[in-house]
Amino acid sequence: MEAVVSLAKRRGFIYPSSEIYGGLNGFFDYGPLGSELKKNIRDCWWNDLVRRRDDVVGLESSIIMHPKVWEASGHVAGFTDPLVDCKVSKQRYRADQLFWSAVVVDGKTVGHVSALESEKTGEELQAAAETFKRKKAITGTLAPVTPKDFTEATEAEIPLIPSPATGEPGSLTPPRAFNMMFETNVGALKDASSVAYLRPETAQGMFVDFKNVVDTTRVKLPFGIAQIGKSFRNEITPRNYIFRSREFEQMEMEYFIHEDADWAKCHEEWIVWCETWLKSIGLPASHLSRYAHPKEKLAFYSKGTVDIMFKYPFGVQELWGIAARGNYDLGQHATASGKPQELFDEATKKKFVPHVIEPAVGVDRILLAVLCAGYAEEDVKDEKGNVEKRTVLRFSPRIAPVKVAVLPLLKNKEQLTSRAQALYKKLQRRYAVQYDDGGAIGKRYRRQDEAGTPWCVTIDFDTIEKPGDTFTLRDRDTMAQRRITEAELFALLEEQVY
Ligand code: GAP
Repeated sequence: MEAVVSLAKRRGFIYPSSEIYGGLNGFFDYGPLGSELKKNIRDCWWNDLVRRRDDVVGLESSIIMHPKVWEASGHVAGFTDPLVDCKVSKQRYRADQLFWSAVVVDGKTVGHVSALESEKTGEELQAAAETFKRKKAITGTLAPVTPKDFTEATEAEIPLIPSPATGEPGSLTPPRAFNMMFETNVGALKDASSVAYLRPETAQGMFVDFKNVVDTTRVKLPFGIAQIGKSFRNEITPRNYIFRSREFEQMEMEYFIHEDADWAKCHEEWIVWCETWLKSIGLPASHLSRYAHPKEKLAFYSKGTVDIMFKYPFGVQELWGIAARGNYDLGQHATASGKPQELFDEATKKKFVPHVIEPAVGVDRILLAVLCAGYAEEDVKDEKGNVEKRTVLRFSPRIAPVKVAVLPLLKNKEQLTSRAQALYKKLQRRYAVQYDDGGAIGKRYRRQDEAGTPWCVTIDFDTIEKPGDTFTLRDRDTMAQRRITEAELFALLEEQVY
């Protein structure tokens, strides 16, 4: 993970936000390569889902919506995380990420230990229990720890659990509900009547505009409304780089189906679509898995939620949630606004509120997944046969920030540079390309490997001296080189970049 973060900074993919002022926790900027990569992820999703399907249309709703939207959706009352304060260190924790255990020696509780959630929470608690026993010079047999999260602590146990910041018990408060929506005020007056929220999800835009879309387009059930846009959540503990941040981008779709439709079949079809799409942008199947939320943990209106999980370096984590939400959201907005959100069934001559399947994913999480999956360090031989290290990002050509680099063999040979410039200008009309004439050719290849550029095209002496006007095409992954004409290069790009 450290290697990925360091490369992402060094090569201009991701910077901490406002870095010259010390950064702002949970916010990030995307640099020249990062913003191209992000745009390509968005474009692939939009093209595959909205443009290439006949049953999905696009939408771009406002970030700040009427505050009643968030009352009806349940976010004002319930979009909360359990927050725990440490009164001594002033640190704040999410109760469900703060783990603890009693330290039990010879069947007797002699103290408590705590640790923040990680891949190794159990091991860390066990090690802390052993240290506790040793420091207090307690003899006897230590029982294995029984990790619980802080929401499971009783009133009597809370004062006994040490704060992860100080290591001492007595300073942690009972958990309280902390609403994650960012508040702002609309207009010149700053009072309760002007309070509004930065949206915590894009989904509500699709519900609130449902009738507008139905009335102004020719959509027929089943159909989807899809949107890409920024969402904001005041996460208590933003972490794992861009995995959980406070400002992020979502790609969500609400797929509306008849109330009597086979929702489980439709749900499964969308899970498969999402998995197939992730593989189409280069994520290896071996890193993907499914997690079905247990029935007892679902919201009362939910029929089922499956998360597509990705094996990040810090653990297997949620990438994409696909939820069957019944007709809860449209129903809520109908009640709150007084405007029915129904369709008319010609067959039964009855009105009904459509149900919905919702695939919801974060662009930043996909970007982190492709960075982590694509990153490799390899030993390779240079032109003289010496072994050197190369760092490469094996992005799929679909999402690679730069598709081709055009390299004139020498920068002071006019015949080479003018041919290279002509090709570069032509490629530039359709693709993100780079022109690089600085340094030895091997160095230039390495630079492009680090940027994840699938192909380099070198304009060399054979190009200008031999018939055929061919270039050397160098493949990023195999490092194999072959000669190619301009027409063949465009055909290759046409096939691979879509
Ligand atoms: N409308 C449903 C919804 O928003 P969610 O599971 O809260 O569901 C959907 O969010 C997706 O958005 C997640 O699967 C994740 O990819 C992304 N996401 C959620 N919170 C995020 C955060 N704090 N930082 C980055 N991505 C986040």
